[in-house]
Amino acid sequence: MNQATASSSPAARTADKDNVVVRIRHLQKSFGDTHVLRDVNLDLHETENLVILGRSGTGKSVLIKCMVGLIIPDAGSIQILNYDVLNLSNEEMNKLRLHIGFSFQGSALYDSMSVRENLEFPLKRNLGIYKSKELNERVMNALEDVGLEDAADKMPAELSGGMKKRIGIARTLILNPKIMLYDEPTAGLDPITSIEINELIVKVRDKYKTSSIIITHDISSARHTADRVIALVGGYSKYEGTFDEIRKTTDPELEPFFNY
Ligand SMILES: Nc1ncnc2c1ncn2[C@@H]1O[C@H](COP(=O)(O)OP(=O)(O)O)[C@@H](O)[C@H]1O
Ligand SMILES: [Mg+2]
Repeated sequence: MNQATASSSPAARTADKDNVVVRIRHLQKSFGDTHVLRDVNLDLHETENLVILGRSGTGKSVLIKCMVGLIIPDAGSIQILNYDVLNLSNEEMNKLRLHIGFSFQGSALYDSMSVRENLEFPLKRNLGIYKSKELNERVMNALEDVGLEDAADKMPAELSGGMKKRIGIARTLILNPKIMLYDEPTAGLDPITSIEINELIVKVRDKYKTSSIIITHDISSARHTADRVIALVGGYSKYEGTFDEIRKTTDPELEPFFNY
């Protein structure tokens, strides 16, 4: 196993290549005449941060939704933690979802609940934990991990965009997921808050030993968080490599990302 410390540069780390936790092959999805995903292939290895880089509208969110069963693809296969995602009963899908933390593009907090109640919700619903001492311990640990211990009794409306994002991440971490899926984690955040979220994503990998897919068009976020990058261009997954390898691309769809 590799040493995974917050200080290690992502490019210097290599994940456990034998342990594939997500395997996608020949994934296709169209909406009417719009062919969004044409042939998407990827492997996510244990404890790595894999960035999927692509312009707006290239099907990044569609891809991530296919992984958690929110969109049914037209063809291809998705293997997650040895589950064959496209052939699961509802019951099996619910079991698998317990291992997947999904950080949505919005923060998806319940506005009428305090931060504490937002975090207690998955503990009660998914783990059946109701004892207030245990709830409190888990909530405070999760808040500490995202640097927001003081926010427990605030309402979402009182939080900044970056804080909401952190709470959203805390709410998924509280279930100890094996896999994290981040959809545009820095979208709509200022550059400094973005850096904090990028650092949190690296910290989550190191502390929780999660394997993560980070979907983004934010090149700076890709550079900070990626152990490996795959580009999504015209419905195809392309150019797998480290950030420094990918940045040498001459693909006209991708090159402007690096030379803006
Ligand atoms: N449920 C849907 N029905 C029809 N079209 C959709 C649906 N979801 C996404 N699309 C289309 O798929 C394309 C890719 O969308 P999306 O995955 O959201 O892009 P992004 O890479 O910005 O996340 C867009 O053209 C979008 O309009
Ligand atoms: Mg999207």
